[in-house]
Amino acid sequence: MAREADRFVCQSCGTVYRKWQGRCDGCGEWNTIVQENAPQAIPRGLSTGKGRPVDLGGLDGDTESAPRMASGIAEFDRACGGGLVPGSALLVGGDPGIGKSTILLQAAALLALEGIDCVYLSGEEAAAQIRARAARLGLSHSPMRLGTETSLRDILATLEESRPQVAIIDSIQTLFADNVESAPGSVSQVRACAQELIRFAKRRGCTVVLVGHVTKEGLIAGPRVLEHMVDTVLYFEGERGHQFRILRAVKNRYGGTDEIGVFEMTDKGLAEVPNPSALFLTNRAEPVSGAAVFAGIEGTRPVLVEIQALVSPSSLATPRRAVVGWDSGRLAMVMAVLDARCGLGFGGFDVYLNVAGGLRVSEPAADLAVAAALVSSLTDIPVPAETVIFGEISLAGEVRPVAQADARLKEAEKLGFTRAWLPQSSKTGRSTLRLTTLDRLQSVKGLFAD
Ligand code: TYD
Ligand code: MG
Repeated sequence: MAREADRFVCQSCGTVYRKWQGRCDGCGEWNTIVQENAPQAIPRGLSTGKGRPVDLGGLDGDTESAPRMASGIAEFDRACGGGLVPGSALLVGGDPGIGKSTILLQAAALLALEGIDCVYLSGEEAAAQIRARAARLGLSHSPMRLGTETSLRDILATLEESRPQVAIIDSIQTLFADNVESAPGSVSQVRACAQELIRFAKRRGCTVVLVGHVTKEGLIAGPRVLEHMVDTVLYFEGERGHQFRILRAVKNRYGGTDEIGVFEMTDKGLAEVPNPSALFLTNRAEPVSGAAVFAGIEGTRPVLVEIQALVSPSSLATPRRAVVGWDSGRLAMVMAVLDARCGLGFGGFDVYLNVAGGLRVSEPAADLAVAAALVSSLTDIPVPAETVIFGEISLAGEVRPVAQADARLKEAEKLGFTRAWLPQSSKTGRSTLRLTTLDRLQSVKGLFAD
């Protein structure tokens, strides 16, 4: 078969094109498509050749479940589903400078102190730089081993020889495999390097952690192209300007997804935040209009977070809608339902919505809290003090029940809240909170009509 001509690959999502184009149809990014050499095609007729049959077994066969390796950083272990699984491949993605190297250095140093053999291979920083950071974090005494290398061949040789239990590769975009003809950081390179390292992880039972930068400029492949290859994907999120960092599991073959670990960036590295609810609530004595406390669930953990809305008269022909930490499409929907079902129009107003503390909320259960914050700001009447709110809103204006109502109420109780607004058909047990149940969004309007 003739060798396929060069192809054009989107460095953000990996979509392949025959011709160059400015915008990727796959992910919508601009200028991310670059020319790459085609990989060697697989010869045809593979099914006709001689292969070796594998043993097939049932589902109830023996499973050896090796113990998870916990670093002792509870928030990190929680995001991994209870610790690192031997022989698994993890991807830790995030914007440059968000703290990926810091958290992994901390985790590796602590794992090594627990007696687990850890190797940290950096292609980004010099050894002296990493040692200086470890000294600042107070981790210099850890028996973890450190190396700096970017050649995949040398890294594999190092790992084969040292046989660690955990290997951290920082970052996958700096590696290059000398059998692939494209620049380090391109989709082909990143995929080839990740594939070899994952194969090593499975073969030797070594946990491999790959660091991947999320990139805006098109010439470096983002971590998205690796998501399907690894067992676990963690993303490090955080708003710039906030101290708080959230490690979120978006995929986990060995545990629950949407589990989060919450950290605070301090001068001594990333510190755990064991009670995130306290962090996402702003302290105030007097209730102010436009703020509502949402009782959410992140992974397995209830988290209370303040939702702030500001509705102000607009002088623009097309009023502004600005959202931080929530989906803007969902905001448009809630406003449309308030308009159509409750007669509350936002047409002549600018609307700003913010989730406090830099958290990103994706649960539909936040609809009711968002609606309450909007109505509160529009009417300039505060939500009663010490009230938590949750519930999904349908297009028909019904307030629909959401999962885990009890866990949400319990967390609110624990943090000293005394009232809750929740969907009528929620299944709840006993609660010391004063519960106001709602079945339609119109009733929310009624709660502000005093
Ligand atoms: P880093 O882990 O290098 O980010 P990444 O590997 O994701 O690119 O984090 C760098 C940032 O963290 C940098 O802006 C400085 C800050 N930082 C602190 O504030 N305190 C610390 O103790 C450390 C180690 C870093
Ligand atoms: Mg780094």
